[in-house]
Amino acid sequence: MLAKSNIKDKPQKPEDVFNPDNNSAIIIKDLVKQFEDVTAVNGLNLEIKKGELFGLLGPNGAGKTTTINVLCGLLKPTKGTAIVGGYDVRKNLKKVKELIGVCPQEPAVFKFLNARENIELFGNLHAMPKKKIKERTDKLLELLDLTEASKRKTKGYSGGMRRKLNMIIALISDPEIAFLDEPTVGMDPRVRRSTWEFIGSLKNQNKTVILTTHYIEEAEALSDRVGIIDYGELIALGPPKELMEKYESKNLEEVFMKITGRRIVEGI
Ligand SMILES: Nc1ncnc2c1ncn2[C@@H]1O[C@H](COP(=O)(O)OP(=O)(O)O)[C@@H](O)[C@H]1O
Ligand SMILES: [Mg+2]
Repeated sequence: MLAKSNIKDKPQKPEDVFNPDNNSAIIIKDLVKQFEDVTAVNGLNLEIKKGELFGLLGPNGAGKTTTINVLCGLLKPTKGTAIVGGYDVRKNLKKVKELIGVCPQEPAVFKFLNARENIELFGNLHAMPKKKIKERTDKLLELLDLTEASKRKTKGYSGGMRRKLNMIIALISDPEIAFLDEPTVGMDPRVRRSTWEFIGSLKNQNKTVILTTHYIEEAEALSDRVGIIDYGELIALGPPKELMEKYESKNLEEVFMKITGRRIVEGI
């Protein structure tokens, strides 16, 4: 069992985080996910608006991936409710899946296919017309600077290239809600920066993006709001600037330090 945090003013109660106006992309109420003796998500309450770029931050093992996996229907919640795009993940997962795109933490691509073939496979799974698949593939490969490598088998790709390909696969169906779980791990700084730009551009298309990361500066630069989680609980919520003002900190790392007394990147 993980230790429970003892932060006093954490935004945990529904009235602290909900502002219902039918403009919610995601509503999480009292969510608990238990794995045998580990409580990975411990009573999470969170609302994410349509068109919002939301950064879910926290140290390793905080429960970010578990939360995303529950929202995507890859894991069943132990307790509580998760509503995605207006649909309850327990009751209407098929509808949820039509609305979302997921870039998983562990890149999963077919090694003996090239990037285009990998993307096409997933486009077909979404029952997209061939022409649409081709158009979006060309556009996304270009935007993520992967066009040149796209006809090579992916077994020779670097970790960063695989992650980019995973991001294209996640976005091929032009989903309304995208979950990007640590999308820039393993990328060199230049590639990481161009990927940030790409993620930021999704906001201009009014897409809802949930980005998990332990790169604090990434979340700070991109997110409309961030939620910091620790031991499966939300301990801070708000626009990065507001949180930094509230905790008189120069960055979110310092916010975390002030709330918990330790560094967010500890143990990575
Ligand atoms: N399938 C699983 N079985 C048992 N424990 C798990 C499983 N998945 C995650 N955990 C545990 O749940 C906690 C949260 O993990 P995770 O959601 O992956 O954190 P994060 O993505 O924030 O690093 C960790 O203690 C992790 O070891
Ligand atoms: Mg994770």
